[in-house]
Amino acid sequence: MQKYYLTTPIYYVNDKPHIGHAYTTILADTIARYRVLLGEEPILLTGLDEHGLKVQQAAEKNGKSPKDHCDDMAPAFVNLWKKLNIKYSDFIRTTEERHTTVVQKILDEVHKNGDIYIDEYEGWYSVSEERFITEKELDSGEFGQVKKIKEKNYFFKMSKYQTQLIKKIESDELLIQPVSRKNEVLGFLRNELSDLCISRPKSRLEWGIELPFDKDYVTYVWFDALINYISAIGAFKNTENFKKLWPADVHLIGKDILTTHSVYWPTMLLSLNIPLPKRIFAHGWWLTDNEKMSKSLGNVVSPLLLVDDFGVDAVRYYLMSEMVLGMDATFSSESFEKKYNSDLANDFGNLVSRVSTLINNNFDSKIPIPSTMESDLAKNYKKIILKDKLDNLEIDKVINSTMTFIRSINVFMEKNEPWKLVKEDKNKAGNILFHCAEALRLSSILLSPVMPSKSEDILQILGTKEKSLVWGKIKPSSSITLSKPIFPRIN
Ligand code: MSP
Repeated sequence: MQKYYLTTPIYYVNDKPHIGHAYTTILADTIARYRVLLGEEPILLTGLDEHGLKVQQAAEKNGKSPKDHCDDMAPAFVNLWKKLNIKYSDFIRTTEERHTTVVQKILDEVHKNGDIYIDEYEGWYSVSEERFITEKELDSGEFGQVKKIKEKNYFFKMSKYQTQLIKKIESDELLIQPVSRKNEVLGFLRNELSDLCISRPKSRLEWGIELPFDKDYVTYVWFDALINYISAIGAFKNTENFKKLWPADVHLIGKDILTTHSVYWPTMLLSLNIPLPKRIFAHGWWLTDNEKMSKSLGNVVSPLLLVDDFGVDAVRYYLMSEMVLGMDATFSSESFEKKYNSDLANDFGNLVSRVSTLINNNFDSKIPIPSTMESDLAKNYKKIILKDKLDNLEIDKVINSTMTFIRSINVFMEKNEPWKLVKEDKNKAGNILFHCAEALRLSSILLSPVMPSKSEDILQILGTKEKSLVWGKIKPSSSITLSKPIFPRIN
């Protein structure tokens, strides 16, 4: 089977998970489930970023040791992923030994090959970004609290790889999507790239992975965190697994962490002589009232509350269909309710009830026998192009074309009026309802990566376990079951 290795960012454990974290993780899970539909074997990695100043400060605030703080926070993420029906293959925490040993191994390698050097540096340090910023960045005034720091640190020769990296990005050997983000990175790389400060003196920050060649320092949190993508799959340890899974098919990220992923990470890999990931995809932000949802703004929506109110599948559907991949999207309860009522309650849910009720009342609850496999619906179904859209990660478009198909089932019903036809020509009515039931089966399967459990419910109503994407596979004469509305209207 063709593997498909995809990753989410690993999340900081300084606070509880919010809708931004939930979005990327649901997106990754949805993509993975679509790969299964395509007959591939997805490997989905997610996890937690546990080192660095933010986590150390959060722990201090809670009066705990950093490790205890991380151990206390981790279940909030694991439980949320369970609640959101996320099927991950592995969950990595950067405090785990399987990760820290690989980070130290890599530091040693890069140090030995001459790409790490020590230097005294004086510059402006951003507390929130946990890094030195340039004069230009300082002038932008976007970096909150900054302080002038003069200290000895270790630097990674990132600049050495600038030309190589530009070539790989320009040629799409490292594909950065959407194209606006690729241009953003290339724009950034038009300026001379400076080397990356990869250490923090323990006198200033203790919570990190110790440098193997200098015990007075810990590793800069980003140099540590990015390595999770290869430490989790056995780099330097389980070479067979590593060879099978690497390079990653896609790193899913938010647009705020584009530079770290498209510049720091690939240059680290170039220094190690490890192939680059195939693709980096940066999605937009969820906004409320045109502001980014973020902890510091105090305007975040808890995914848990939404799920408790509307059910996990409806939340997954909203998040996946409302955000055009790559663009920002605005969250509001009004738009949630509108989308839910029009797409799920009306278009999809009502249709399932109508078709199953008609079959129940007129065909003894059995899928009628078709007279032909041809119909407008069969034609419409064959127009849905799945593979290309999925390869482009256009999940919102896959959902849209499925919804268009579902609406065409409604149109087909109105045109053929099986409720009237059944009195005049029962076979003809049966044929129509067979085609509707089959179209519903396929719609459920096409939406199953987004709504895994509701799709199962609908297949159960239709009395089928058939998961084939080939038209005409629902079995005539099999029994259907009636049920309560699948997506009850929100009033
Ligand atoms: N720990 C780093 C990532 C290291 S990956 C090697 C980090 N963590 S984070 O918890 O702050 O954020 C993780 C992701 O959540 C980012 O991709 C970010 O874009 C995403 N989101 C945070 N707020 C968001 C929204 N309001 N909307 C959508 N996603 C946003 O960065």
